[in-house]
Amino acid sequence: MTLATTLLSAPPAGYQTPLLVLAVPEGDFPPSLEALDRQMDHALRRIYSARDFKGGKDETALLYPSGPAARVLLVGMGQPPADPRGAVRCAAAVAGKEAQRIGAGAMAFHVVPELTGGDPAGMAQAATEGILAGAWRFLAMKRPLDPPKPELERVELLMAGGGQAAETGRARGSAIGAGHILAREVQMLPGNVCTPTYLATAAQDLARRHGFGVTVLDKAALESEGMRALLAVGEGSALEPRFIALEYKGGPGPPVVLIGKGVTFDSGGISIKPAERMEDMKYDMSGAAAVLGTFEMLGRLKPKVHVVGLIPSAENMPSGTAFRPGDVVKAHSGRTIEVVNTDAEGRLLLADALSYAKRYGPACVVDAATLTGAVIIGLGHCASAVLGTDDALIGELRRAGERAGERVWELPLWDDYRELIKSDIADMKNSGGRPAGTISAAWFLKEHIGEYPWAHLDIAGTAYAASDTAAMAKGPTGVGVRLFSEFLLGRS
Ligand code: BES
Ligand code: MN
Ligand code: ZN
Repeated sequence: MTLATTLLSAPPAGYQTPLLVLAVPEGDFPPSLEALDRQMDHALRRIYSARDFKGGKDETALLYPSGPAARVLLVGMGQPPADPRGAVRCAAAVAGKEAQRIGAGAMAFHVVPELTGGDPAGMAQAATEGILAGAWRFLAMKRPLDPPKPELERVELLMAGGGQAAETGRARGSAIGAGHILAREVQMLPGNVCTPTYLATAAQDLARRHGFGVTVLDKAALESEGMRALLAVGEGSALEPRFIALEYKGGPGPPVVLIGKGVTFDSGGISIKPAERMEDMKYDMSGAAAVLGTFEMLGRLKPKVHVVGLIPSAENMPSGTAFRPGDVVKAHSGRTIEVVNTDAEGRLLLADALSYAKRYGPACVVDAATLTGAVIIGLGHCASAVLGTDDALIGELRRAGERAGERVWELPLWDDYRELIKSDIADMKNSGGRPAGTISAAWFLKEHIGEYPWAHLDIAGTAYAASDTAAMAKGPTGVGVRLFSEFLLGRS
């Protein structure tokens, strides 16, 4: 999908386009649309007075005026929102999705000035992100439609008085949106396509396009590096594991290190999962996708930050060569692990990445991983969990998540939970069982970190969606890209 966005200060009245979108808050007819309404023979007024449209969240109405816009789409944003960015992002996504359904090819998106006031950069960014997210579809593996439907290719943002700030916001939104799309594309690919070597190739492609540093460790290199935990996870698979390191040096000083879990398919291994919805375990590399998507954003925006991205990647399969329950492995950190459950594999490969990260002397390390089913019990699909060793870093991630529309919620990492992963034979075991599953997993990770501030994001509940919403297609959500982007841009 290639979608060009341009920012214009043109008013919506008289604007010629196949689809004019008006994002409006809930309530009465917005006075700023008076001129457009007159041009449309008062069709807007009529729809309000008939009470057919009130501007409720995700409410839409499609009109066909005779005027210069072939179609007019009203999109409601709900009650004058506490979070106007979030409301605009959401309305823009509804518009993007609707534009694709109609096959409009191009659209103009107007946020009524009643709302843009304080934060033109944030509004333009959110609108751009939303349109890209809503318009995204995955068609690569289906027979093309005959006749083909036009793809949405051009979007004009109609925003009066935003000036340079709005243009900065649009550029940010466009880069973040491209990263978000890249992440979703990679997430969507099934386990027979998106393998550890595929992820490595994707990272090398990013590095070539944007001039990043890139290192890929193959199996032999993993052996000599002592990454026995990552290797153990990959032992049952015919596919070789990989460890990928990307580096973007846009600024001086120690890097922010981002780590993404890259399990390209998680069958559970010998501790095999039930068949029901096992196909969703192709999404077990969503943390890795978030890191790749974030690097796409970095390459496009070139902010003044130093970032390293690490992706430990393997496929978790049962076989005669697979690692087994009871095995003891020595991780990169030098600590020993009793594998009581081969399905608790993510923490094993993350442990090696967290330990590997020490060599960068990082400013901080943040990992993102589809780590536990337990986080879905705790937070459902509305928020990712955050746990870590540094309150300031956790607070920074929480605020970045709010701005990004990717909420994170903290769970405690009290010392009392450490005993859940006590082992009789090794320094720790890899599963603490059912109680506080997200916390014991984070405690396991904590056993392998260095002296740096660290936070862990459990994205198992937010990485993919089981059903469509008005704003987003079901499937991969690209979670993490917008959050990481806000976090990094906040530091640049
Ligand atoms: N990849 C899964 C976690 C997961 C579950 C992701 C549901 C997305 C949706 C992870 O590797 C896993 O299997 N975790 C186990 C840990 C348990 C064995 C301690 C779990 O959560 O059941
Ligand atoms: Mn698992
Ligand atoms: Zn997993």
